[in-house]
Amino acid sequence: MLRRMLLAASSSDRARRLITSAPYTRGVVSRYVAGDSAAQAVDVTRELLASGLLVTLDHLGEDTMAPDQAAAVTAGYSGLLGQLAAAGLAQGGRAEVSVKPTAVGLELAEHGEKTATENIARICAAARAAGTTVTLDMEDHTRVEATLRIVRELRADYPDLGCVIQSSLRRAVADCAALARPGSRVRLCKGAYDSPESVAFPARRDVDRSYARALRVLMAGPGYPMIATHDPRLLRIAAAQAELAGRPAGSYEYQMLYGVRPAEQRRLAGTGAQVRVYVPYGSDWYGYLVRRLAERPANVAFFVRSLASQR
Ligand code: FDA
Repeated sequence: MLRRMLLAASSSDRARRLITSAPYTRGVVSRYVAGDSAAQAVDVTRELLASGLLVTLDHLGEDTMAPDQAAAVTAGYSGLLGQLAAAGLAQGGRAEVSVKPTAVGLELAEHGEKTATENIARICAAARAAGTTVTLDMEDHTRVEATLRIVRELRADYPDLGCVIQSSLRRAVADCAALARPGSRVRLCKGAYDSPESVAFPARRDVDRSYARALRVLMAGPGYPMIATHDPRLLRIAAAQAELAGRPAGSYEYQMLYGVRPAEQRRLAGTGAQVRVYVPYGSDWYGYLVRRLAERPANVAFFVRSLASQR
């Protein structure tokens, strides 16, 4: 119930105004967000790479409603990739980027999907020039079909374009089977959005079961699974499945969010596993922050205190 309320707040303008101006907010934001600028994101990337982790960078922002803004986000990603390459951080895919289709135009009133496809192609070209890759984030269930169409279209030119599958959706296992092709990069997560029961599992244990099933499909296939979870049980299942499938450490990777279980990130990397940290940066952090708060009941206290302090 609380999770539902928080996820509803992620798209409420009133809640956005209250939370972004609350006195406690900055401290929580800095736990999950690398900073406002690309320069700060590059600094955090350098530190994480130096500690043996890999990185994917997300320029915060979603639901772009103007073509100019979509073009600016696209240019921001290309600029960031240039900076990463110049600093020697992108080569070999050590630092890559994650992109939300709605941030680069998917929801524009006219030609949204075409604009998003063209903008993502531009980011893929910049990533290739920098020696690295792009992964498309998955947003709420209404955007899944369009996002997968974009992935299918662009993989003709950019076969290393990655995408996300959310195990909370009933279609997850079938989507993983369809995506299990040689070289196919698939990031499997539980899903951070609230979706109706017609398309999603309401019970967390079913989301977890779906995760394990989808992961088995990816691990048994010829692609490159990206295991995006902090859940200790699923991490154990992933390790067992990798062993069962006879996968060497370089043929898959673990992924976790910046600020979430950092000690576990370092511990896993210390075992010789590949571990990538998802690092968001930018000033438009509201939607991202509220989804992170919704994932952890303890964080709800923060939310309630912020609202109370504004009365
Ligand atoms: P779960 O939520 O059960 O958490 C397991 C444990 O991890 C918790 O008990 C707690 O210890 C810790 N934890 C988890 N979240 C925390 C938080 N916010 N703060 C503090 N501790 C926390 N979703 C989506 O819909 N589309 C996407 O494109 C992506 N992309 C993505 C990339 C990467 C690299 C990751 C790791 C995750 C995503 N997600 C996502 C988010 C994902 O769907 C999911 O909401 C979170 O990863 C939390 O789920 P867990 O699998 O960690 O399990």
